[in-house]
Amino acid sequence: MSVHREQRGVTVTTLKRLKREGEKIACLTAYDASFAAVLDRSGVDVILVGDSLGMVIQGFDTTVPVTVDDVIYHARAVARGSRRAFRVADMPFMSYTNHTQALSNAARLMQEGRAQMVKLEGGETQAGIVRELSAHGIPVCAHLGLQPQAVHKLGGYHVQGKEAAAAAKMREAAAAVEAAGAELLLLECVPAALAAEISATARIPVIGIGAGNECDGQILVLHDLLGVSVDRTPRFTRNFLTGAHGIADAVSQYVRAVKDKTFPAAEHSF
Ligand code: KIV
Repeated sequence: MSVHREQRGVTVTTLKRLKREGEKIACLTAYDASFAAVLDRSGVDVILVGDSLGMVIQGFDTTVPVTVDDVIYHARAVARGSRRAFRVADMPFMSYTNHTQALSNAARLMQEGRAQMVKLEGGETQAGIVRELSAHGIPVCAHLGLQPQAVHKLGGYHVQGKEAAAAAKMREAAAAVEAAGAELLLLECVPAALAAEISATARIPVIGIGAGNECDGQILVLHDLLGVSVDRTPRFTRNFLTGAHGIADAVSQYVRAVKDKTFPAAEHSF
């Protein structure tokens, strides 16, 4: 028997093929084994163990207090629950401030958390970190647009890239992280036209949240999709549980809506 067992399920190669073939990539967050299993069976392509766990699981106001140990705990549970979906884990605030720290934390997320890719926030300033991780065989998703870990610097959760100069900076950041070896790009709260342009230019798949429906895929926080987020319902979310026959049906409806481009609609975009 060969030692190189064929990888089962979705891989970075699958995601690139889906982009090439024009099939939208359906992504969702999950934080435990039971929900991960439901998502997996409902056709979700990518499960993100997001640092949004700080808000929807732990009850904090922001993602800032989340630690690497927190993400590992939830990522391990998600890995036990899923078989097919590709698993991405967030690198928390201040866990990638230099190459050595980033490498050691990303390695922990992959070895202990069994993640298949790590996600980090930032563009050109993080290109060196992306290059370093990538050179060590760690696939990276770069998160541009609204970067929630910087909420205290930004002064709130606002759409990014509206002005011409900010849009130009985002185009450059997207090109820089791709050149540095990022395998996936996530755009959060970005005008639909700008997100469409970046998606068309990038050779890597671009996943949007609040970024219109021309990205190569979509992601939502699971709690928003199920209508259980407390205090805030961002404009770009939709409660898929309303009118569905339970949670699995709601997730399947979301996957179908992403694949046939009926979600997000104009009212979910900027
Ligand atoms: O932490 C998170 O859940 C995210 C969202 C963009 C999906 O990064």
